Amino acid sequence: MSLKQCFNTQQFRKLAKRRLPGPIFHYIDGAADDEVTYRRNTAAYDQCDLVPSVLAGVESVDMKTRVMGIDLDLPLFLSPTALQRLFHHDGERAVGRAAEAHGTLFGISSLATVGIEEIARTIKTPKIFQLYYHKDKDLTYGMIERCKQSGFDALALTVDTIVGGNRERDLVTGFTSPPRLTPRSVFSFATHPAWTANYLFREPFELSNLKDHIPEGSNVSVSVSDYFSSMLDQSMDWDAAADIRERWGGPFCLKGVMSVEDARRAVEIGASAIMVSNHGGRQLDGSRAPFDQLAEIIDAVGSDIDVICDGGIQRGTHVLKALSLGAKACSGGRWYLYALAAAGQQGVEKALSNMRAEIERDMKLMGARSITDLGRHNLRWR
Ligand code: LAC
Repeated sequence: MSLKQCFNTQQFRKLAKRRLPGPIFHYIDGAADDEVTYRRNTAAYDQCDLVPSVLAGVESVDMKTRVMGIDLDLPLFLSPTALQRLFHHDGERAVGRAAEAHGTLFGISSLATVGIEEIARTIKTPKIFQLYYHKDKDLTYGMIERCKQSGFDALALTVDTIVGGNRERDLVTGFTSPPRLTPRSVFSFATHPAWTANYLFREPFELSNLKDHIPEGSNVSVSVSDYFSSMLDQSMDWDAAADIRERWGGPFCLKGVMSVEDARRAVEIGASAIMVSNHGGRQLDGSRAPFDQLAEIIDAVGSDIDVICDGGIQRGTHVLKALSLGAKACSGGRWYLYALAAAGQQGVEKALSNMRAEIERDMKLMGARSITDLGRHNLRWR
């Protein structure tokens, strides 16, 4: 199987599985507890059918959208995700360049493997920074300041990782950042020599935004779940979120809002957007899927704040269903991380091309010439 044969997310996933040592693949692919929420995130879209309109004159369709005041050529963007140089040696650089080629937004994490300044200097497409609220406030506030200085376009405060989720695949494989050889994983690293050579002989692994403050994750191996539980500030509350918004002063998003009440509070503290998200099912298993929760949130706050549907997206039709409910844009992690692992920048560009082609084709088939033509009249529940 080659990149050419990757027509959809599942095919990229297969290729990623082949390229990556088990612990790395399962870190991306895995989720919390029984992974019920992870599966539901995608399955939710199948509960809802599209009702197309015909004879709409769709020789050209406009896929543009605007979210947090940022114009996007596509209603889909690349959610910030951690540790990307573990998945491909170009990591965030590859993802940023691919997003740039498609005129969409991409994010880097506080736990990124390329620094804020380099990304800002080298990638021109709109950028969002995913802030984790660390106990170390010099670090937390320092990252906000660096994003300001560097001209990041938006800040997303992660609100669904107050402790680490129970990622049992990581417990089984012994996955940590940086990766550690264990008796169990040694076979897997030895049988993926291309990955292992890149890891050993290219630019050393680091968590670029954190390394000058804390050794965990860069020099001291720790699981991501333990990192969240020990390094993040569990006292984070609405006052803290309001304070972060004020310090930042620009387009501000809460990532991981799932309830109507919280969505209303996000409006009250002056957030520009919420990402309806359960962190890809990696935190609270049994949590509702973003798509299932979207309608009630949009009914409550859709005219006050941009609502982004983050999670489970694998197809253009998933994007169309969320937009029909009233989401301003969709985002996701795994769909492009599999492609990154499969083939670096080229892989992510192919994943984006596939999605772009699907969204365009499906809009034509739906009789929608622009995103504003989509609405709840397009949808029926089974
Ligand atoms: C995760 C974090 C780092 O592993 O986003 O889910």
